[in-house]
Amino acid sequence: MADWNDLKALRTAQSGTGIEGLFAADPNRAKGFSASTQDMHLDYSKTMIDAPVRDALIALCESEDVARRRAAMFAGAPINETEGRAALHSALRNLDGGPVYVDGQDVMPDVLRTLARMRSFADAVRAGTTAATGGAFTDVVNIGIGGSDLGPAMAVRALSPFHDGPRCHFVSNVDGADIADCLRGLDARRTLVIVASKTFSTIETMTNARTARAWMIDGGGDPARQFAAVSTADDKTAEFGIDPDHVFGFADWVGGRYSVWGPIGLSLMLAIGPKAFDAFLRGGQAMDLHFQAADWPENLPVMLALVGLWHHQVCGYPTRAVLPYDQRLERLPAYLQQLEMESNGKRVAMDGSTLPMPSGPVVWGEPGTNGQHAFYQLIHQGTGTVPCEFMVAATGHELDLAHHHRLLIANCLAQSEALMRGRSLEEARALLMAQGLGGEELERQARHRVFPGDRPSVTLIYPQLTPFVLGQIIALYEHRVFVEGAVLGINSFDQWGVELGKQMATSLGPIVDGTEPVQGRNASTAALVEYVHRHAGG
Ligand code: F6P
Repeated sequence: MADWNDLKALRTAQSGTGIEGLFAADPNRAKGFSASTQDMHLDYSKTMIDAPVRDALIALCESEDVARRRAAMFAGAPINETEGRAALHSALRNLDGGPVYVDGQDVMPDVLRTLARMRSFADAVRAGTTAATGGAFTDVVNIGIGGSDLGPAMAVRALSPFHDGPRCHFVSNVDGADIADCLRGLDARRTLVIVASKTFSTIETMTNARTARAWMIDGGGDPARQFAAVSTADDKTAEFGIDPDHVFGFADWVGGRYSVWGPIGLSLMLAIGPKAFDAFLRGGQAMDLHFQAADWPENLPVMLALVGLWHHQVCGYPTRAVLPYDQRLERLPAYLQQLEMESNGKRVAMDGSTLPMPSGPVVWGEPGTNGQHAFYQLIHQGTGTVPCEFMVAATGHELDLAHHHRLLIANCLAQSEALMRGRSLEEARALLMAQGLGGEELERQARHRVFPGDRPSVTLIYPQLTPFVLGQIIALYEHRVFVEGAVLGINSFDQWGVELGKQMATSLGPIVDGTEPVQGRNASTAALVEYVHRHAGG
């Protein structure tokens, strides 16, 4: 049985041959250090993970009893212990699976009933049989934040080749700029507003929802016909005045950042249609089955998690970059920031004890090739190491632009290779000599052209970004977060860290609008509030 100390010792003992040395020593490395589902392939061979390291990482899964926790999650046990709830988003995509029990009750009939209601609503809106005041709906505005925004916003963007429904827009920020820019140009008589909020009490969402309602009334629309809600709180949706036929409920065992699979995904269903939405769910379900059945070394979520633990907790790399070579996945890094950092950004273990090792890393990223012309400089030549997660489709959707896609793939593969290989001082010198440089100037210039190499990356490759594949990608990352959290002993399903700021904002509200005095706040906050009061207009 291995532990963190064994892993640290293995890291310290790794010879100076680097990643390329591992390839030289093992002709089968590319195959041996990758894992596949039927159609997706994860290559983690361009890392310093060798057989002893992988064995030790897998031993961590065994000693932390990841398999038991996984079974408990899929069985609906209350694994979210600090909130006393199950974490059962997998039930939302359990399309033709068996019953799933929470507190002795099969939840599947309710899940499937709600899904059927969503389908009929989406069909009617898309066909124009459920119409707005001014005719068929042309636009949908989803108002939500965090998990009630990032999932559908990311997926709607990702699946734009499948759009054949109304246009979908997303408003999340309480900054009035967000809703003002979104509503400008929309027809209030032909717009459907979905208020998406698990709790139906999030201040940003409720403020935006009231603003949208006023806009609709002003523009001659009818909120009674043109508002829908997705929430766990029917009492609050009724209080807001939303027609119960337009309310799609879900249970509290669906965490916000895991909720795109259910009613929170209504905007996605409206955009791509119920059939394509089903394919998205089936992709998630396929990954659930793979996660439960595949052996550890063949298991994509497990291996992705172990690579993450190796890089952050063992090697000490503080961040990881997610770099989709897929422009339509441009919102994926933001989505993963919530999924990973809200889930595993914790400082205590499940039992309240202080974590003996760092929790989750900072996750960030942008699509390639854009990032190459911005921050890749640091990834290649900065003093720190940033493990990279590349992803790319074998085929794009723009078949008439296949040459673009070939270039995209070449860039993606080139980056992981360049990061691994680097360029030595000798190679840099030779390059400059060939350009006619010599002497001191050559020496000075050469050093700037050295790349240290040995910078690790993984590559996820998939056939094409379809609803089914996107479903797999999201579920892959959900389960990766689960495995990382389980190994670290974290509760990945609560988010107490967002509370304090919310409370402070509530107490600062009346001070900012001048109805309460600023006295008593700390001097910095007081000075900032005074600045606002001196400069605020309107
Ligand atoms: O502030 C964090 C959070 O609770 C997220 O976890 C959640 O996705 C988001 O706010 C939105 O919450 P709600 O769906 O209840 O409006």
